[in-house]
Amino acid sequence: MEFRIVVAITIGILQLIVTAVNSAAAQPLDEASLKERAPRLINLGNVDGKNYFVDSSISRNWTAAKTYCQSLGMELATIMSSAQVAFLKSAYNSTTFIYTHWIDARDSFEERQYTWDNIGVAVTSLSSLPFGVGALRYQTCLSYHAATSPQISIYECETSRKTLCQT
Ligand SMILES: *[C@@H]1O[C@H](CO)[C@@H](O)[C@H](O)[C@H]1NC(C)=O
Ligand SMILES: *[C@@H]1O[C@H](CO)[C@@H](O)[C@H](O)[C@H]1NC(C)=O
Repeated sequence: MEFRIVVAITIGILQLIVTAVNSAAAQPLDEASLKERAPRLINLGNVDGKNYFVDSSISRNWTAAKTYCQSLGMELATIMSSAQVAFLKSAYNSTTFIYTHWIDARDSFEERQYTWDNIGVAVTSLSSLPFGVGALRYQTCLSYHAATSPQISIYECETSRKTLCQT
């Protein structure tokens, strides 16, 4: 009888712990813990239900930037609406949010990436041919260039840039 009660209580406690761990993992926006793990990460604010975070303290290659965001329970940033474009433009700051930051886009090794060189027309007419990727490594990645007139800049993926994460 007593043994059963002890087992029941133990299981109850374990379930509480599992619940606590799960909810911690589901909340990357725990500001206090983020401050501890990434003291120089700056929260740019909220748009379309997500927060953008910038790390200007260390420059990394694209792969390392993606891993860095994921290590904080986030992802490399995407910019997928005019609200997000406007938000990032208004977040420009000449000390804290300036120059180039990796975002979550890189070359695709697909037909749509190519143009017939002489005529400037997209290579879409090959669709009856299989498109072979071969053993290439990713070469070009996209960055968001924060400025008063922002733009998307293409760089070689192994070059070092700042990092733009999102929740
Ligand atoms: C840029 O960021 C710094 C540090 O957070 C802040 O003091 C300053 O007011 C900001 N500048 C603008 C133009 O928002
Ligand atoms: C990216 O940076 C990491 C960490 O410095 C390094 O180990 C890795 O080889 C780099 N990757 C590329 C493709 O340059």
